[in-house]
Amino acid sequence: MNVELPDTVAASTGMPRIGEPAPAFEAETTHGTLRLEDFKGSWLVLFSHPADFTPVCTTEFVAFSKAHPKLRKLGCELMGLSIDSVYSHIAWVRNIEKNFGVEIEFPVIADLNKEVASLYGMIMPGESKTETSRCVFIIDGQQTIRAIIYYPLTTGRNIEEIVRVIKALQTTDQLGLATPADWQPGEPMIVPPPSTQEQAAVRVGEAGIDCTDWYFCKRTV
Ligand code: BEZ
Repeated sequence: MNVELPDTVAASTGMPRIGEPAPAFEAETTHGTLRLEDFKGSWLVLFSHPADFTPVCTTEFVAFSKAHPKLRKLGCELMGLSIDSVYSHIAWVRNIEKNFGVEIEFPVIADLNKEVASLYGMIMPGESKTETSRCVFIIDGQQTIRAIIYYPLTTGRNIEEIVRVIKALQTTDQLGLATPADWQPGEPMIVPPPSTQEQAAVRVGEAGIDCTDWYFCKRTV
């Protein structure tokens, strides 16, 4: 019998994956109709939140908004999403401004028909069938998905970590080096390990790098 099985669960659910093109969409937002394509050439953090007028989401919107100037300096835009109407989004962002003195300058998708949420696998039915989880898609200027981070409903995101991941990806693109655990800009970076015995034999003696062993070398940049 010839049974065709999907290569991964992600493939079977149509969830986007790192290294693949970000799924195209056109959506109603607080800034009018927008398409993913409108962000071409710029990095984009596309993130979902469970619902408007909820406390954890409010803290996240305040934190995203405070990080917005820093993200713009990295050539990165922000776009939120939840399964709420555009009127609810407008009322909530106005409420955030009134209560917290923070202006939300990024667009928020009103995904009432769950079109974008389904396309990006933002609904985790085991958690909630009616709300999007706290999903983050980091998309580069060529509209390739570069990182995906999921948080559950009850855990507010660390926005500084999202900024750090973008800085790490951009620095890797520039220098061809990887970043170690907890890396911060300015710290030594990881030289990708040799993939042949011949390269391994010469790696430790290479100039300009600091090696603990043949597979573990760092470069100060
Ligand atoms: C909140 O944003 O406060 C929240 C949303 C969904 C579940 C739990 C908390």
